[in-house]
Amino acid sequence: MCGIVGYIGTHKARPILINGLKKLEYRGYDSAGIATIENNNIVCIKNKGRVKELENIDKVNSLGGTIGIAHTRWATHGKPSSTNAHPHLDNSKTFAVVHNGIIENYSELRKFLTDAGYSFLSQTDTEVIPNLIHYYYLKEDEKNTDKLACAVRKATLDLKGSYAISVLCSLEPDKIIVARKDSPLVIGVNDTEKYIASDIPAILEYTNNIYILNDGDLAKLTTDSITFYDNDFKIITKVPEVITWDAKAADKNGYEDFMLKEVYEQPTAIRETIGIRLSHGKKCDFSDINISKEYLSNISSIYIIACGTAMHAGLAVKPIFERLVSVPVIVDIASEFRYREPLINEKTLIICISQSGETADTIAALKNAKAMGCKTIAISNVIGSSITREADFTIYTHAGPEIAVASTKAYTSQITILSLLAIYFAEVLGLEENEMLQNLKNEILELPSKVSIALENTDIIKAFAKRIYKEKDLFFIGRGTDYAAALEASLKLKEISYIHSDAYQSGELKHGPIALIEDDVTVVGIITDRRLVEKSVSNLQEVITRGAKTLVVTNQNIDEKLFTNIVRIPQVHPLLSPVVSIIPLQLLSYYVAKEKGLDVDKPRNLAKSVTVE
Ligand code: AGP
Repeated sequence: MCGIVGYIGTHKARPILINGLKKLEYRGYDSAGIATIENNNIVCIKNKGRVKELENIDKVNSLGGTIGIAHTRWATHGKPSSTNAHPHLDNSKTFAVVHNGIIENYSELRKFLTDAGYSFLSQTDTEVIPNLIHYYYLKEDEKNTDKLACAVRKATLDLKGSYAISVLCSLEPDKIIVARKDSPLVIGVNDTEKYIASDIPAILEYTNNIYILNDGDLAKLTTDSITFYDNDFKIITKVPEVITWDAKAADKNGYEDFMLKEVYEQPTAIRETIGIRLSHGKKCDFSDINISKEYLSNISSIYIIACGTAMHAGLAVKPIFERLVSVPVIVDIASEFRYREPLINEKTLIICISQSGETADTIAALKNAKAMGCKTIAISNVIGSSITREADFTIYTHAGPEIAVASTKAYTSQITILSLLAIYFAEVLGLEENEMLQNLKNEILELPSKVSIALENTDIIKAFAKRIYKEKDLFFIGRGTDYAAALEASLKLKEISYIHSDAYQSGELKHGPIALIEDDVTVVGIITDRRLVEKSVSNLQEVITRGAKTLVVTNQNIDEKLFTNIVRIPQVHPLLSPVVSIIPLQLLSYYVAKEKGLDVDKPRNLAKSVTVE
């Protein structure tokens, strides 16, 4: 949940490292630090607060080294402070380490090192790593020409938990050693420059030739070479991936915030995600995943496992899978699934959704399911991310890098790709002539233009945000897929505007929550299913009678006189409607947060990818 950047080359490291940290701040932003090597000494500067504050420190500005590592932190062990910030040094200040992940056995290792005469300054789990490296370095044979890499490997073998690390050593000032397990790390190359990052967007403006490290990999970087080692410390060959993301995709591109930019990128993200999977009059194409008619005819259930917004995308597509594949679909929260004993076996198909592909709970759930004999499909937005290496098959959304902590374009892209997958399954099962299937395919192809229209209608939303931004509680209600969208709208509002909100199935209100409705409470209703209009309108009238003010998002023919605030969205099949109905509600949470003067892209306490439990 933190961000790592590293650089070795012929230019000054400082501007490249600071620039990279700014691109990674969405991964963590409570403290930051940088270390370079100058005159064979490590110079390390750390600070509580944002990268901007680190950048403004005079000493940082005068850093001149051409090799360095840097880090932006989201605290796990030890509160945000300059002492707990990374890089961490060993007692002799010979080694500097930045680390993402959690060292689960750090107390044990601290005890071992304390007994061996080491002491600790910080409360972090990370500080054991530079000291362990020092411990093993001293034990290496003087003649060993690969002392640093060997010492780092020995240290990592002692670590339990997850790590991505970059290591500097003042005794070998021409090298950086990196290693990873269960936490992402990539190396970018061009000519004599080498870049390290925990996330591709941090280095995309310098290169799109990227080596993706696998679990257990270690690499030694100099200006002239990279040597890769596997878990057994055998030298291996790796081929870089050419990443097609445009460097501009990781910039705000004129928008005030990444979130707003990403909201407006949704038509493109959906179009790119549909890509070659579907064109007019054709069958869906998922021939890259090996799912046969025989297998599909025999499955007894589908589990969709994910966290947060990705889990809401799962709830949004449950009905389309159940309708088209005719098996029960269970949508489960990854952190719950992994500690239960779910009733799954080789007849259960598992679909795990993760934008980042690095969410620890989702990866663990997938591994558990695989161990129980299930076939697993990962839906991810990040090429080569951890989950894609664990799953039997991976299907990518092509939303481009999502930087804002609040997920928007990933959500609509996930629903799009999963709806296509449900249709594909139906086609594999022999239902291709089904009229509803043809309608759904046509509607999916129209989603980008419908989302574009929904994005134009912002006046009512902006005005409503001004009215409600000081409120403490809000309610979102809907039925069927509108309820799925309501859950996501409620999460968006909570995470970026810090207003408490709940989402309910409209019909459930009268079984309790309606007791909370009193004068001036805000209730947002979503109505996109023709069959349920009357019932949903009645539910909203029930809250108006009790004093609530309402905002209604609808594509149905609802009388203007019934509600003061109606946001009209384009007609869309109810099974696909969250892709369109969520748009004004993403904007509502955005404008409410702006009215409150909050940092929309970096909400408090959150980080973009949750790589810890
Ligand atoms: C979304 O706005 C959230 N920040 C969060 O719920 C997120 O969707 C969740 O942590 C899952 O992330 P993933 O898709 O990268 O696995």
